[in-house]
Amino acid sequence: MKVPFNYLPQQFADVEPFLAGWRELAASGEFTLGPFVERFEAKFAGYVGARHCISTNNGTDALILALKAAGVGPGDEAITAVNTFYATAGAIVAVGARPVFVDCDHRYQIDAAQIAAAITPKTKVILPVHWAGASPDLPRIVQLGKAHGLKVIEDACPAVGARLGGRHAGTFGTLGAFSMHPLKPLNVMGDGGMVVTDDDALADWMRQYRNHGMADRDHIDIWGVNMRLQPLQAVVASRVLDTVADLVRQRNGNALYLDQGLRQWPDFVTVVERCANHIEAQQLYMAAFQRRDALLGFLISRGIEAKVHYPVPLHLQKAAASLGYRRGDFPVAERQAAELITLPAHQFISTQQLDYMLETIGEFYTGKRSLTRMAESVAEHKTAETLRVNR
Ligand SMILES: Cc1ncc(COP(=O)(O)O)c(C=O)c1O
Repeated sequence: MKVPFNYLPQQFADVEPFLAGWRELAASGEFTLGPFVERFEAKFAGYVGARHCISTNNGTDALILALKAAGVGPGDEAITAVNTFYATAGAIVAVGARPVFVDCDHRYQIDAAQIAAAITPKTKVILPVHWAGASPDLPRIVQLGKAHGLKVIEDACPAVGARLGGRHAGTFGTLGAFSMHPLKPLNVMGDGGMVVTDDDALADWMRQYRNHGMADRDHIDIWGVNMRLQPLQAVVASRVLDTVADLVRQRNGNALYLDQGLRQWPDFVTVVERCANHIEAQQLYMAAFQRRDALLGFLISRGIEAKVHYPVPLHLQKAAASLGYRRGDFPVAERQAAELITLPAHQFISTQQLDYMLETIGEFYTGKRSLTRMAESVAEHKTAETLRVNR
């Protein structure tokens, strides 16, 4: 049996609904910003519950735009997670600032308890990440930011659809950045991103900066750049946004099923703790496995497209050499980098595929190919999750 990681051909198998939107766009000739982008921004702002939504080319641009709006530049430090995608730290470096890393906790999220110790007189912002579509302790981080006079910018790139205590990821800090990369919960046929904020002045500045600093066609107030979202992608994003709540429910159903199945082997597998008041977007389903590399090879040899996000934490990357970190500085992230596997758990994974993955993992650890059925059906989990999401 094959268990693919990539679900895009299935998700976009029916292009007709997108073609209808693109035909309308073509007829309008509104190819730079314009009504299609504006309508999508308003829809997204309504969805996450933010006052302003400024769309961008991609999530990295969204982070750069948010950092620049917050006034982060040369000589400043931005505190962030050491176990994130390159773009989080890359965006900090792109605005001329220095990333200061903090270790993660057992949920793979930035450890809020360790952030205070990383604050220095040069710290300008705290940039927590909703890693893998789950969320760190944002209320605590926002509180800490307030106490130290620091803005919080959320890297919610993987987390459209995630909520803590009913509130959307990306809306706790002064600014929140999202990605619409093809493998994010809200995805387009290419790249896209956005920044949300409730601050009117920051929103105005970002709208100008992302569009060459233009006040109008003939005047610029500031030097800006072109970070505009393509209207073609706004059409896609607008339709996909309608499906996000469902997709998150399905992925959470799959995640709970895998969690429960993997708990059969507590000596070999550590399942992540799920918080009662969080809804995770489940961009990536991760757990920690003994003899990780051997298991990974075994899964791949059996047609299961498992991956590792990521085997080398940021402080040990060549690009980070000048930051002066060493192996041993972030022991939790380093251990997780050696133990984590990401399993396909997206919305197109079937119960048979979930069972096949569990059977294969069981066979690797016990030598036996049998599965203790952990629940009567995935439907049971999905119902439980639907209730939780709708509450
Ligand atoms: C945590 C995180 N930050 C930033 C990004 C960058 O987003 P993009 O690829 O849209 O530039 C990604 C994903 O790619 C991400 O996972």
